Amino acid sequence: MKKIAVLTRDCAGVNAAIRSVVRTAVRHEIEVIGVIRGYDGLINGDFISLNHRSVSGILNRGGTILKTSRSKRFLTEEGQRQAVKNIVDNGIDGLIVIGGNGSLSGAHDLALKYDISVIGIPATIDNDVNGVDKAIGVDTAVNVALDALDKIRDTATSLERIFVVEVMGRSCGYIAMQVALAGGCEEVLVPELDVNYDDMCREIQIGAEKGKLSWIIIVAEGKASAYEIAKIVNNKTGLETRVAVLGHIQRGGRPTATDRIMAACLGNHAVELLREGVTDQCVYFKGNELKTLPLDIAIQPKNIDMVQYYKLIKTLT
Ligand code: F6P
Repeated sequence: MKKIAVLTRDCAGVNAAIRSVVRTAVRHEIEVIGVIRGYDGLINGDFISLNHRSVSGILNRGGTILKTSRSKRFLTEEGQRQAVKNIVDNGIDGLIVIGGNGSLSGAHDLALKYDISVIGIPATIDNDVNGVDKAIGVDTAVNVALDALDKIRDTATSLERIFVVEVMGRSCGYIAMQVALAGGCEEVLVPELDVNYDDMCREIQIGAEKGKLSWIIIVAEGKASAYEIAKIVNNKTGLETRVAVLGHIQRGGRPTATDRIMAACLGNHAVELLREGVTDQCVYFKGNELKTLPLDIAIQPKNIDMVQYYKLIKTLT
């Protein structure tokens, strides 16, 4: 293995993973290429050379120094062929892809259809990589959302108001559930679970009659918009309801220690695996143990048991 490339999506901890990949590779005298703007960059041959110094001072920075994109072209055979041509023409022996479900699907395509050596590192705030307990970026996103929620609660409690707080999560309610549990929220709405809105509003009304006027409802964006939920609550209960949409603040920011440590370990492991000739696998932690998982499993829809979390939230309300 003489030359590898690294391609990323963005979330907190990705830069720490890039740093780990580069510095591990440099130790083994492997040349490292950074792919600019994700799969679009792979198709355009938009590459930069990375060395030990080029990843100095990035460990604590959010986003990705390599920039990224949502590439529509890479979903086509023509785009993939052009990307493979660039990999081969540039003498790249292996590719490390750091990202979520879409990025890892692209990595699997490269391995399966074009025999490119690829290792994936899960990094996505949605935590929707199948078989993986926690992706890089999740811990930071949950903590950022929790910090915002604690602030919202100050007003919710002081003014005895209902708040609907929308967090990210397109098809996976992981952030919502974690934040609701950690933040002591009264209700949480996620794509994986059906909550009857009439029952929810009745519960709010019964609470109000007993003097509990402050409620926080967390909703994952993939379930409904916070505005829709607020309208339902307001129409059915007559109680004043406010909305906060946390949005992209959850994806950026300084990575937590947990995300940085995970990124350091997974980046290092990914390079070692490429050197050993392993391909089409995703690296992750099971407890304290470094593990691998075939990419074709990692990209399947993830099923997290939300019922237990939900029951606990309602028990503690
Ligand atoms: O997949 C990560 C994520 O942040 C989702 O939670 C969200 O739905 C989506 O990306 C937002 O995408 P974009 O940044 O392209 O608007």
